[in-house]
Amino acid sequence: MSPHQLPAFRRRASGATNVEFACGNFAIARRTAYFVDSRKSKNIFGRSFLLALLLLLSASRSYPQTAAELPVNSTHAAKHTNTSDTWPQQAVRGTHAMVATDEALGSQAGVTILKQGGNAVDAAVAVAFALAVVEPAAGNIGGGGFMLVRLADGKTNFFDYREVAPAKATRDMYIQDGKLITDASTLGYRSIAVPGTVAGLELALKTHGTMKLAQVMAPAIRLAKNGFPITEKLVREFDEEKPGLEKYSVSKRIFLTNSRNQNHAYKVGDMFRQPELAATLQRIAKNGAADFYRGKTARMLVADMQSNGGIITSDDLANYRPKIREVLRAHYQIEGHRWDILTSPPPSSGGVAIIEALNILRQTPLKGWEDLQSVRMVVETMRRIFADRAAYLADPDYSDVPVAGLISDCYGKELFATIDPQHASSSKEIKAGTPHVCGISAGQSTSSNMVVSLGERPHTTHFSVVDAAGNAVASTYTLNDSYGSHVTCSAGFLLNDEMDDFTTQPGVPNALFGLIQSDANVIAPNHRPLSSMTPTILLRDGKLSFVTGSPGGPSIISATLLSVINWMRLGMDAQAAINAPRFHHQWLPDEVVLEKEFSPVFEQALNADGYATKRKGHIGLVNAIGIDAQTGDRLGAADPRDHGSAMGY
Ligand code: DON
Repeated sequence: MSPHQLPAFRRRASGATNVEFACGNFAIARRTAYFVDSRKSKNIFGRSFLLALLLLLSASRSYPQTAAELPVNSTHAAKHTNTSDTWPQQAVRGTHAMVATDEALGSQAGVTILKQGGNAVDAAVAVAFALAVVEPAAGNIGGGGFMLVRLADGKTNFFDYREVAPAKATRDMYIQDGKLITDASTLGYRSIAVPGTVAGLELALKTHGTMKLAQVMAPAIRLAKNGFPITEKLVREFDEEKPGLEKYSVSKRIFLTNSRNQNHAYKVGDMFRQPELAATLQRIAKNGAADFYRGKTARMLVADMQSNGGIITSDDLANYRPKIREVLRAHYQIEGHRWDILTSPPPSSGGVAIIEALNILRQTPLKGWEDLQSVRMVVETMRRIFADRAAYLADPDYSDVPVAGLISDCYGKELFATIDPQHASSSKEIKAGTPHVCGISAGQSTSSNMVVSLGERPHTTHFSVVDAAGNAVASTYTLNDSYGSHVTCSAGFLLNDEMDDFTTQPGVPNALFGLIQSDANVIAPNHRPLSSMTPTILLRDGKLSFVTGSPGGPSIISATLLSVINWMRLGMDAQAAINAPRFHHQWLPDEVVLEKEFSPVFEQALNADGYATKRKGHIGLVNAIGIDAQTGDRLGAADPRDHGSAMGY
């Protein structure tokens, strides 16, 4: 009997049960076992569908659709207090296109643009602007992020619109008397890095889109101007974030006081209108990113900075440049199929970490997350990739990140050899390795002494889009903490606290994630702070197969990795790959973080093997899209852990 009871999953219909991983002349064969007991799982798909339909009916009044009216299939988890036995068990199926985001209104914005004839990039830009209105915790124009694009003709691009440190930023700007100043890098004007989102979205649209900014921004502008009904999730967030938001007058006015209701706090169902944000979005729609970086919005932002002790100047804004980077790639042979992984290069640490992990794990069979040995192998892998992350990853424009060595097969094999399958390793003993490419031998191992812990509350957002032609977008963007710095610009948008992703004091954990990171990631003007955001796309036999990514700080890497393993190696259905329980280990602190679905018996078995454990309600929010290899249908698998929404047609 398995050591714990998890919802069981069946393998995708396609493919045999024999899984073969091949790497050069190395190959192993393995029988995997994933079964579904559909009687066990209450399916709320019907209820979610009705709710979403109601939402769509009301939304359609504010979103005139010009294209043929194809029915939209959708689902979203309606309640915060949802538990895994009420989660949808099936992905949303669309024969043409699919959008999966954290919010129904965000997904609807993407579908609207697709139905107007836009491609996946047009829709993704529409989603990003819409989430900036309806998901203030993470959706943004005052933050930054990454967008991975894979076009149906095989072209790929990675848009890096990560924030940068202002010119006046200094290595020790958050240190006083040898200590980090409490909250300095996470709250208020001095925690804000130069935002990249607007420039990045404009660049992606110009490079691959077919529509004008004004057209793709129309849903966002309507949502900001006309408003939308406040959800239970927003009421809860405003309440949770009150201590930070009430410190800043614009934040307090916009998020904490409903001027139409005698300035009381918002209640569920109240209309949430954001006229300043609507005006800003309208200016951007008309004048492009130039408004944000050199126009009226820039002037408003700089004036706010000057009167509140911030350091971002008009030059910082005018000098901001998004970058197009080469996509990071690896490939695997599984069950006679070639899998290509397309993922995020530095300044993301995630793509390197995920390929490094897959290279380690291809040396070993994996059965699933009811199997103690499989969980242990992945935990030991996570321990090692996070040790390397802490030592080697930083902004590639300013440091020499050994990417080729970290993602080489030979290095993965060497790290695998350091895992004792019978006993837990200790993070005190596991140091960063010596990455090297095949054929060149490794030198002395670099030792490091980093401490890492996991933040509990922060938020970021990932969304995935696939259009009818097969163009795909995976995008993750963020304000860093939930509601970022908690400062709202007088132009109506929240500003990030991304400065905390730098090594704020070498040798000391940063405030939000308790990460000690390398000296290469110290604060310096114009540098990009290291990120864990990892938008990722999988191809199977050269065809689009899976689009994924997650929020979660360091656990972004674990959540995204697990979704990839679930789809590519364990052959789970799309929704099962998202619902499956998650776990996380980030080297230091030396503990396995388990979602609540793991049983006490399973946890005790890990403890008996020498693993310290800790519980977390949920890890990551993965909004993914799978492609049915037989029919080509798009399978929208939004994360039910917190209101994910997939819509397709
Ligand atoms: O870029 C990063 O790695 C972090 N700023 C992401 C923060 C995050 O995911 C918070 N959310 N859940």
